Formats: sequence, C-alpha cells, structure tokens
Amino acid sequence: MSVLAILGAQWGDEGKGKIVDVLSEKSNLVARFQGGANAGHTIKIGNEETILHQLPSGILREKANCILGNGMVIDPIGLLEEIEIVKSKGLEIDSRIKISHLAHIVTPLHKALDCSREIELGKNAIGTTKKGIGPCYSDKISRKGIQARELADILSVKEKLTSLLNFHLAKGNILESEKPRLIKEFEEFYDASQKISGFVFDTISMIHQYIKSDRNILIEGAQGTLLDVDFGSYPFVTSSNTIAGNICTGLGISPKNVHDILGVFKAYTTRVGAGPFPTELLDATGDYLQKTGHEFGATTKRRRRCGWFDAVVGKYSSMINGFTNIALTKLDVLDGLDEIKICTNYKNGKYPGIDLHLAEPEYITLPGWKSTISGIRKFEDLPINTRVYINKLEELLETPIGFISVGKSRDQIISK
Ligand code: GDP
Ligand code: IMO
Ligand code: MG
Repeated sequence: MSVLAILGAQWGDEGKGKIVDVLSEKSNLVARFQGGANAGHTIKIGNEETILHQLPSGILREKANCILGNGMVIDPIGLLEEIEIVKSKGLEIDSRIKISHLAHIVTPLHKALDCSREIELGKNAIGTTKKGIGPCYSDKISRKGIQARELADILSVKEKLTSLLNFHLAKGNILESEKPRLIKEFEEFYDASQKISGFVFDTISMIHQYIKSDRNILIEGAQGTLLDVDFGSYPFVTSSNTIAGNICTGLGISPKNVHDILGVFKAYTTRVGAGPFPTELLDATGDYLQKTGHEFGATTKRRRRCGWFDAVVGKYSSMINGFTNIALTKLDVLDGLDEIKICTNYKNGKYPGIDLHLAEPEYITLPGWKSTISGIRKFEDLPINTRVYINKLEELLETPIGFISVGKSRDQIISK
C-alpha cells in the first residue's frame, strides 16, 4: 500500500500529467486536492494526446477511481465538456468520478469577476487563466460560496447565485450591463450543475476506506510551488495552496497518511502569465527552449516564458514540500544546446527573503551533450554530460532524482 503525492515544483506545467499517468498503473484511487480548470495536464498514450483540467489524470487508467477533492473549485460546465471528451475515447468513467460534497462551485459569475478584475488591474494584471478560480476561492473564504452538496437542490442554488450576483453588482464588481448575458449563462450552468450532481459523494469517508484497506492512492497536484498563494511569487500566484502542506486539508486526511512526495521539475524553467522570473531568457536561447519544448499553455494556449533551471527556488521548493523523490522532465528539450546554465545563487540576497523581482541570478555553466536522448531507457546509457547535469541538479536540490522523462509518451521514462 502506498500514498504517493505528485506535485509541481516550479511555476506549473512541469509535466505532472505525464508523471501521474506513468506512475498510476497500480493506483486504485487518484485524487486532486486543489485548483480547478486552471490546470492543464497533458497525457500522451500512443499517438493520442489528452488534456485534462479538472478530472484527475488517473481517469485514463481503467481501474482507478478519481476524487475531485474538497479543496478544489469545480466548474460544472467545463467538467461536463471534459467528461464528454474522455468518454468519446471509449472509456467508461461515470462510475469512477467522485466529486467531494464539500468542494466549491465555480459559476459564470466567478469567471466574469476574474475577467473584470484583470481588466481593472491593467498593466499590473496577474495574467490569470480567467477560469474564475480567484473569485470562487474568495467567495469560499468569505463564506458566500456554493458547495457541491447543494447542487442536488437546484432551486436553492438559483436563489444563492442570484443573491451572490446582486451582492457583486451592488459592490460594483460587475457592471449592470453584464447582467443580461450572465443571466443567460446561468441557465447553462444550472443545467450542467444538475447533470454533475450525480457525481457528488462523501469522498472523505471514501479515501479513509481506501487507506484502511491498504490500497494504492495517488495524489495529483496542480499548478506549482512558486504559484502557491502563501509560498509563491505573491501576488503573481494562483489562489490556492499548491504545496504538500495542503494535501491534508484538500482531501481530509492526516499528514501521517502521506508516505511519499514526488516533486516534478522541468529540466529548465517556464512560466505563463505575469510575475517575476529571475532566470528568464529573452534571447535566442529562450526562443529555442520555447520552440523545441512546444511551450504553449495547455489551458490558455499562451506562449510560455522560458529560462534556465533555477536551483535557488528549486531547493526552496524541495525544502517546503519535503520531496522524497524527484521526476525531471523534458530533458530531451536540451539536446541541441552547446552549453547549459543552472542558477545556483542570487548575487544580491538570500532566498527566501529577497524579492524575486530584484534577484540577480548567478550561474554555473555545464557542457551540453548534443545528441538525441529520447530513445534512451537506462540511466547508464545517457551521454556522460547528461548524467553530469542530472547529478548536479540532484546535488543542488538535495533530493534524489528517481525518474527522468525524455519525451511526451508513457514509455519515454528512465528510472534511476
Ligand atoms: P502539467 O500541467 O504539469 O501536467 O504539464 P503540461 O501538460 O501543462 O505541460 C507539459 C508539456 O510537456 C505537455 O505538452 C507534455 O506532453 C510535455 N512533456 C511532458 N514530459 C515531457 C518530456 O519529457 N519531453 C517532452 N519533450 N515533452 C514532455
Ligand atoms: P498546471 O496544473 C501554469 C497561473 C496563471 C497565472 C496565475 C493565476 O497545468 O501546472 P489563476 O487562473 O490560477 O488565477 O492564474 O497562475 N497558472 C498556471 N500556470 N500551470 C498551471 O496549472 C496554472 N494554473 C494557473 O497563468 O499566472
Ligand atoms: Mg499544465
């Protein structure tokens, strides 16, 4: 029996979906504990690519039950679309989807609030995914939210959403001119809500039954450590805690129930949206990483910003999550480079403490390997310079690197 958590260690899009897919073969249960449709987790099986936003990646494994935990914010309209996409692949999934009765619900009002807040921020906009995540978590914390357990009584949802709309109109958060469009969108929302209400479940009792009966549980993080609302590059973060510490509150389990915490690191760094990024490359190498890595957001299709591996924030991420193991992804993207840099220090201050906007990175330079590694399956068969790069990261992160991903597909993985 094992309870393994797989978490993003940088600014999201590290390849969590692929790693969850690889490691979920023997999982009886796969659970998400935070975030919502802002996530975009890509899984490639054979020639077919699937992008999941709210459904845990275990949904593509026929035997795994999937929990959308109480710490998530669920968008019924988006979820229904996603369910249809997965079903069209011939998978039977209805009986395996379990939405926590305590999860909060994203409504069209939250998406509109997300958009208007971004417009209001102007040049200081966060660059959110506009999926309504921040406003939904805000309403949760200010005790005005709608929980999944309420979806069964659609009349009371209608009442609650109408009063929520009136509240935000009165506060000037939403313009009166938007009201007719929203009222129309609410109809689609009520319809979707009714349809997903059949998936609502007491997932707390369920996960504890799995723990008691020694079954394999995999916990799938979304976003990444530097997007955590407390520990990330605030305010350029998401609105949930993405780190290991939130697994327990997002699922209703104890810290003693989690055995292993695997951090997923990309072999370089990317970030979508605004905010500090000390090792960002605004040059030909940055363009090279972006093009070779096909670095476009899986949810918003925005171009991802690219830069060198930042071992300063990496070490911090390992420390606060307590990673027991690391999966290093997209190493193949570095194949063509003559030299590869790693940021090992900030010249002008210690992190955490220094404002990331001000950080001046200091680099070490390692030689590239200039050969194709995507077909390699054994660590010993990797070029010597590739092994040197991996070993250096392991030393800097003070955590073993147990998995190395060298391509998008399930089989393109090396266990070390
Ligand atoms: P997630 O949000 O952490 O699940 O990551 P995304 O799915 O948003 O982005 C990762 C992207 O990299 C996806 O397009 C994956 O198919 C792709 N990917 C994952 N691992 C590898 C790898 O080792 N090599 C390459 N070239 N692509 C990878
Ligand atoms: P996965 O799970 C990368 C970023 C957004 C924005 C900030 C706040 O695929 O790794 P939000 O919509 O959450 O309020 O946006 O967070 N962001 C992500 N970046 N991967 C993600 O998820 C992200 N989810 C949110 O781009 O900068
Ligand atoms: Mg993603």
